[in-house]
Amino acid sequence: MNNKLSDENYWEVYAMISNDSIVKAMTIRLDAIFDELPPPPEFTGGIRRAPTRHFNLSQKDTELALKNALRYIPEKWHRTLAPEFLEELTTRGRIYGYRFRPGGEIKGRPVGDYKGQCIEGRAFQVMIENNLDFDVALYPYELVTYGETGQVCQNWMQYHLIKRYLEALTRDQTLVVASGHPVGLFASFPEAPRVIITNALMVGCFDDQENWHRAMALGVANYGQMTAGGWMYIGPQGIVHGTYSTILNVGRAKLGIPEDRNLAGRLFVSSGLGGMSGAQGKAVVIAGGVGIIAEVDYSRIKTRLDQGWIDEVTDSPAEAFAAARDWQQRRQGRAIAFHGNIVDLLQCAVDNNAAIDLLTDQTSCHAVYDGGYCPEGISFARRTELLNNDSATFRKMVDGTLRHHYDLIKTLSARGTFFFDYGNSFLKAVYDTGIEDVCKNKKNTLDGFIFPSYVEDIMGPLLFDYGYGPFRWVCLSGEEEDLRKTDQAAMACIDPTRRFQDRDNYNWIRDALKNHLVVGTKARILYQDAQGRMKIALKFNEMVRNGEVGPVMLGRDHHDTGGTDSPYRETANIHDGSNIMADMATHCFAGNAARGMSLVSLHNGGGVGIGKAINGGFGLVLDGSPRVDAIIRSAIPWDVMGGVARRAWARNEGALETCIAYNETRAGSDHITLPYLADDKLVAETVAQQFKRNAKS
Ligand SMILES: NC(=O)c1ccc[n+]([C@@H]2O[C@H](COP(=O)([O-])OP(=O)(O)OC[C@H]3O[C@@H](n4cnc5c(N)ncnc54)[C@H](O)[C@@H]3O)[C@@H](O)[C@H]2O)c1
Repeated sequence: MNNKLSDENYWEVYAMISNDSIVKAMTIRLDAIFDELPPPPEFTGGIRRAPTRHFNLSQKDTELALKNALRYIPEKWHRTLAPEFLEELTTRGRIYGYRFRPGGEIKGRPVGDYKGQCIEGRAFQVMIENNLDFDVALYPYELVTYGETGQVCQNWMQYHLIKRYLEALTRDQTLVVASGHPVGLFASFPEAPRVIITNALMVGCFDDQENWHRAMALGVANYGQMTAGGWMYIGPQGIVHGTYSTILNVGRAKLGIPEDRNLAGRLFVSSGLGGMSGAQGKAVVIAGGVGIIAEVDYSRIKTRLDQGWIDEVTDSPAEAFAAARDWQQRRQGRAIAFHGNIVDLLQCAVDNNAAIDLLTDQTSCHAVYDGGYCPEGISFARRTELLNNDSATFRKMVDGTLRHHYDLIKTLSARGTFFFDYGNSFLKAVYDTGIEDVCKNKKNTLDGFIFPSYVEDIMGPLLFDYGYGPFRWVCLSGEEEDLRKTDQAAMACIDPTRRFQDRDNYNWIRDALKNHLVVGTKARILYQDAQGRMKIALKFNEMVRNGEVGPVMLGRDHHDTGGTDSPYRETANIHDGSNIMADMATHCFAGNAARGMSLVSLHNGGGVGIGKAINGGFGLVLDGSPRVDAIIRSAIPWDVMGGVARRAWARNEGALETCIAYNETRAGSDHITLPYLADDKLVAETVAQQFKRNAKS
């Protein structure tokens, strides 16, 4: 017996605590929601299911995981659910509590349909349900919204409790959610956040894959990705704008296309039509180019075909290239899906000398061994079988395919194709197979990779350093008319003659409705800088106040200027050595909380994987009040400029320019510390002399 438990006093207290006293102490609990145990789960055919997450807990840990899950369950149901949860754990690697999933479809409905004591409580229910919509979520039954493993919360028991808490939440309380677990409601005040979320924040020395898998299986950690666990996902549209800007600007920077032209006549090749990658077809067409995107899972191609985001599909690589050539010659945009492995598509290009202008990859390489990357030579169904039953073979095949993939890319790039990493950890995954050649220093990843990355070379210097990032909103009324009005109002706030970024953003919002970008709630994404975001937010709040539109949820993706510390991605163009620090994301989160954003969230991982990034997000409900005007004026510029300040301190040119202007326009209220720039030659000479002296002595 454990020594601690033999302590007499402890037992006295412990003996007094029974489930009877616990049930009396809680009003928000599952048996207050369900009169009786819901029936065993039924799964709608055709809905994608998450692969098994590999059960490998010890017997003792298995007991712990089961006991942990039963913490949500009234004692009267333990006998029934203990074996059921154990079965879920051993077969799927997690306890999802499938039985508690509400039957049928879940949709983000108009905010007025939800119960609640405050608009924020109702609004976050819209956002959560949109994240779980069959049309939006990647694996809706497993609460995975996107990015293979990004969950709203860990299980359906948490879902119900969070919803019940949001219904009860008042303007004088804050709901605390730790890795999907609703810790509870705590007294605060109207200017405080209504919801504070953290996901997967592991203690440094445990922040690795092994401890991570254990914590997930034990039910104490949730992989929130970014907007999945931060409840701010708006479907693939969220990423279309960033993808459009990236592809367009890569074309301009690397193919010599002028700033006022698009990608007409150019071929873009990539892979992945999943959660975020599914935006590629639409984005390349909006940018005027032709795209071939390889995807092994037909169900994902079908989703994009049904949406009209893919124009045609073929399972022949040669046919895909022939069709692309035809559309390139017509100089018309076209999105072609190749149903098959990206490696087969690229092998065909190499064998037949097919010319590719721009090449990237958007398989889920942040989780290559968890199903994110499909090995060559096998069908998607066989991949799932192997993944479930023979992870060692699966791993070996993944490594072999990654090496082949890398060789093909090297051949194509030697022939003139411009390859760039799309922030999916592809180059890191290649390195992890043992290829050191992929690193600049041929040893390790400290100096980066031999191929550029889309943030380091494009989005960082051209967008993030100026503060341009993925501002977004959801019209909580669910009305198309509200979306149209907000689009128009946002467009009127942009001066297209200011910078080429503003012109691209202006064109984007002008054509947004026509481009049919909405999947799920009536949402919109629009890249904006600090000033633009604040201006638009104030305008929207005024429109809510005047009754022109219903309440609006503002937010952003974490793939942005300020909210995310991620050396392989968002902060890849920070070169002062601070790219391994996570101070910025933490400050962004804390500063947003201090300024009263309605929701603040902070996560470990995100799109690049556990331990590789810390990212923070927010949600702000516009209710038309002066209180919200004040929050917009302080929190929105902070959310962006904290990031620009850090980029300026790293001596990034665009960020310096932006901060100098900011210090002038906000004199008296804000002030950013700027770096003096040292002369490289002076520094090099000073150091060289010292090293020479050291060598002599
Ligand atoms: N779009 C962006 O702006 C962006 C930004 C940063 C990072 N990313 C990264 O891109 C990756 C993809 O994100 P997602 O949300 O689309 O993930 P996802 O898992 O939903 O989609 C990936 C798709 O790739 C397909 N796939 C896997 N292996 C393949 C192969 N060998 N050949 C062809 N298809 C294959 C899968 O079937 C899946 O549909 C993630 O790692 C994400 O972090 C995307």
